[in-house]
Parts: sequence; structure tokens; C-alpha cells
Amino acid sequence: MKILVTGGLGFIGSHTVVALQNKDYEVVVIDNLSNSSLKVLEGITNITSKTPEFHKLDLRDKSSLLDFFAKHQDISGIIHFAASKAVGESVENPLLYYENNLAALTYLLQNLVNLTEQNIIFSSSCTVYGEASELPISESAPVKKAISPYGNTKQVGEEIISDTCAAYDNLKAISLRYFNPIGSHPTNEIGELPIGTPQNLVPFITQTAIGKRKELSVFGDDYPTQDGTCIRDYIHVMDLAEAHVVALERIMSSKTEENFEVFNVGTGIGSSVLEVVKAFENASGENLNYKIVGRRPGDVIAAYADTKKANMTLGWKAKRSLEEALKDAWEWEKSQAKARV
Ligand code: UD1
Repeated sequence: MKILVTGGLGFIGSHTVVALQNKDYEVVVIDNLSNSSLKVLEGITNITSKTPEFHKLDLRDKSSLLDFFAKHQDISGIIHFAASKAVGESVENPLLYYENNLAALTYLLQNLVNLTEQNIIFSSSCTVYGEASELPISESAPVKKAISPYGNTKQVGEEIISDTCAAYDNLKAISLRYFNPIGSHPTNEIGELPIGTPQNLVPFITQTAIGKRKELSVFGDDYPTQDGTCIRDYIHVMDLAEAHVVALERIMSSKTEENFEVFNVGTGIGSSVLEVVKAFENASGENLNYKIVGRRPGDVIAAYADTKKANMTLGWKAKRSLEEALKDAWEWEKSQAKARV
């Protein structure tokens, strides 16, 4: 079966292409290479001994997209990653985010509703819950007003898909609300490639340990948590990638109960920033240089997933530990440093 992966050369996209090819799906990748490179295609090929069909295409280019679907009527499922994801950049340039994340999604859906039977897996985020009043966070927790345009594109993206599924019976969708994806493929062939200074914790940690950054700033140690630092649910990117395959198979085998379903994708385990630092030191054998600084505006205190729905309904469970994810992230960082010399 042929599966289309948009943004298939990005961090989560590329790992999902590997997970699909591991299960013998034929994969077609669309990517505009705005935040990825063709080297990722090589990495995927090295891991799976298969090169996915690749199209350099920007989803905002309506006519090229129309042309693509005219030539690819045999696609059985779509996993849609292509989007911008930097919170700070979205505050500075909201229109880029609304165009890239929402106009592009609309164009994609316009093509899908014209096909006989179609399905889409949407890349959403736990950011839709904001500061949840109950932990762990279940799918029935209220969606709170987004604090950034990026977060808003995830909320509105879900609404656009849900409204479209309600209007067109031939379209089914699953939205996966990711917690914090980290790590990389254990072969070191693909991994996270942050542009410039990483905003996310784990790439900042590995870049500090390798000597690219002087020290990690821990944003705040006065939160109402066990050690005062924020709590998140860090999930290995391969576990997350496999959740996409399971979600797609749920729709393709007509197991969905509603045309639009939502699942949290996390481990269910909350770890504080300082616990992640300790776990990294254990996994890598390195001492990490860090200092406590003030809080980062916009950070929620704690977010970790209630995984019951994903475990029981989707039949998926994260298998890899935090240490394993951090070890893979560290090996990836070292392999990148080696490649640079
Ligand atoms: C962030 C985004 C979220 C997005 C997700 C994608 C914000 C406010 N949220 O989530 O919308 O979906 O990335 O992966 O930007 N930390 C430090 N020092 C650092 C970096 C982070 O102490 O240099 C702390 C943060 O304060 C936070 C934790 O580490 O408590 C995780 O941060 P991060 O990796 O940026 O993820 P989120 O903020 O959860």
C-alpha cells in the first residue's frame, strides 16, 4: 500500500517513514526542504535499504499539489507533518504560520475530499491543553486558548479537519497530540537537526555536552514541583513514529469509532528538567554544565499524558525509556560532530 508522508524528511516525519518502510509500506514523501535536507533521504535508505519516492513540493503551491494528486490516485493513506514548529518564530511571523500550517492543510484536504476513500493522520501537540488542571492529561481535558500562533495552528488545524470529516463521509482522520519527542534512530542515520540555537531541552543538552554551547540554562527552579523545575513527558521519536503507523492502520482497517479521533501520544511518565539532566549524565557518562536562570515566558508547569486511550483503543504503548532516548540523542550528536571534522 502506498502512503503519502508530507514533511517526510523532517525530524518526526523521517522516523515515521522508517517505521512505515519497516512494515513494508510503499512511501511517497513530499517535502519543501525548508527545514530538512536530501541527506535525510540517504539516511532512510541506509536504514531500510529502500528509497522512498520523493517530491520536492510546497503544499502552498495549489497547482503543483493538484498535479501531484492527479498522478497519485493510488495513495491509501496520508500522514501530514509538513508544518512550521518554532514557537518564538510564530510570534514574530504569525502569517507565515497561518499560511504554512493552515492554508497548506486546507489545500491538502481539498484534494483528499475528491478521492473516493481517504484518511489523514494529523500532527498535533499537547500544547492544545495549555496548563491542564488535572494530571495526567487525558483527551477529554479542555482545549485552552493557545498562547502562541504555532499552538493556535494546531488547535485550528484540528477544527478544520474535524469540520471537514463531518461534511465528507469519505474522509476519516486521527489527530495525534504529541508530548515531547526526543532521541533519534539508534543507527545514527537520522535524527533531530535543529537550525541555529536549539529551543528544545534535549538538543540543547547534547549540544552543551559536545561543547557547542557553554552551558544549559535551566528555566526556573521555583515551580510547584518536586525539585522546582518544569515537568514534561519525553517520548522516544521511534515510539512516536510507530504510533503513526498504528493510527493509520486503525483507519485503513475501518476500526475507527468516529470520523475524527484524537489520541495523546506520550509515555505517561513526567520528568523534571533536572531529572532529564541527571538521566542524560547517567546515559552518556558526561557531566553537564548547567545553571538555573529565570522562568521562560509561556512555559506550563507540568504536562504528561494519560495514555489509557492510546494503550487500549489504539493498541499502542511507548516501549523505550527516557535513558534510551537520551543515549540515542547523545550518540546522534556525537556522530554529527564526527561528520563535521
Ligand atoms: C515546546 C513548545 C511546544 C512545542 C514543543 C515541540 C514552548 C513554550 N513550547 O514544548 O509548543 O509543541 O516544544 O517540541 O516553546 N528548558 C530549559 N532550558 C532550555 C530549553 C528548555 O530549562 O534550554 C525547559 C523548558 O523550560 C521546559 C522543558 O525544558 O520546562 C522542555 O522544554 P522544550 O523542550 O522547549 O519543550 P516544551 O516547552 O514542553
